[in-house]
Amino acid sequence: MRDIDQMLTLDERSSADFILSLRKRWADTVYPAFISEFENSGKKVRTPKEGEKKLKMIKLYPWFSHLERIGQKMMWRLGSDVVFRCSDELLGQLHTEPASTAGTLKLNPDLKLPKWYTDTDIHMQPGSFYSDDLSAYVYQFGARIVMLRDNDGYKFHKLFANTALPDLPANARVVDIACGFGKSTRPLVSRYPGAEVIGVDLAAPGLKLAHAEAAAEGLPIHFRQEDGRKVNLPDSSVDLVTGTMILHEMPKKAIIEAVEEAARLLKPGGVIRFLEFQPTGDPVRDATVYEHAERNNEPYFRDLFDTDLVQVCTDLGLKDAMWVPFDERAEGLSPQGWPERTDWHFPWCVLQATKVA
Ligand SMILES: C[S@@+](CC[C@H](N)C(=O)[O-])C[C@H]1O[C@@H](n2cnc3c(N)ncnc32)[C@H](O)[C@@H]1O
Repeated sequence: MRDIDQMLTLDERSSADFILSLRKRWADTVYPAFISEFENSGKKVRTPKEGEKKLKMIKLYPWFSHLERIGQKMMWRLGSDVVFRCSDELLGQLHTEPASTAGTLKLNPDLKLPKWYTDTDIHMQPGSFYSDDLSAYVYQFGARIVMLRDNDGYKFHKLFANTALPDLPANARVVDIACGFGKSTRPLVSRYPGAEVIGVDLAAPGLKLAHAEAAAEGLPIHFRQEDGRKVNLPDSSVDLVTGTMILHEMPKKAIIEAVEEAARLLKPGGVIRFLEFQPTGDPVRDATVYEHAERNNEPYFRDLFDTDLVQVCTDLGLKDAMWVPFDERAEGLSPQGWPERTDWHFPWCVLQATKVA
């Protein structure tokens, strides 16, 4: 199976490099300059809400916000151009019966997608991620640039699997909620050889790509089109429920339902691990995170930040519920807190909890 990166023309490769560099400089040069200009302005801020107002008074603000949004638009445009140019080959490999039968794919064309899911072009991706088989490739192309190519070879997701997930018995069952095109699910196979690994997602295109790629490598992953809030597995039948970058994409009610579902699925002694974001307590930095969410069509960031999921877990009878910071560059799980950084980066954090044995 050919990767989309192998299909770029010289011109497309140059464009991708340009967009990647723009994004990197936005993060490591424009953002610190913007923050420094804000600090030198003498403006004081006590809450993120106040921060959002006062940040807009800074001269660099239009550049800071424009470069973020325009970079994202350029990225999707280029991704779509590449994917449409290569659509025959890409669709062909998506619909070819894979040689390996180690894994499975179960789609459900009757699955009703929630309105909050279909209402928004999430991350500004035109048509979002569920609308068309080709949209999975567009998303895959963009996701690599969004992660500044630091997740090539699933580096980021492997770091999560290797530092934030517990050891499990050899015959464990692991469910990855909202597995997208399988980035978060694949590292679970090497982390838990012998385990039954299941990935569920609402989006059929992503699941098809996930399955085709996993099957091409003979990975035993079972992908299923299901809502993470209603997984077709019995109560108390799962050792580990994971979810990466999912809770912040749902409204509050759905976030809580997803955690409730995870608690239902867990065996006694089983654990949940959701890799997400949390407010840092620095009102200016947190204001830039809220702003990012708005610019990037991610309307439910606030719902996640405003939901006390430690309390939700505790009310569900889960123990040791807590958020633990995560440093994607080196350490992974960082119980000592986030390291000092001047560049723009996400405040990654892992929600963990254990079902009482
Ligand atoms: C940002 S992607 C994360 C994908 C993957 N976990 C990763 O780390 O790359 C969010 C995914 O959540 C899926 N999703 C959103 N709400 C869902 C739900 N209620 N149940 C299952 N999947 C959901 C979307 O279709 C999308 O694939």
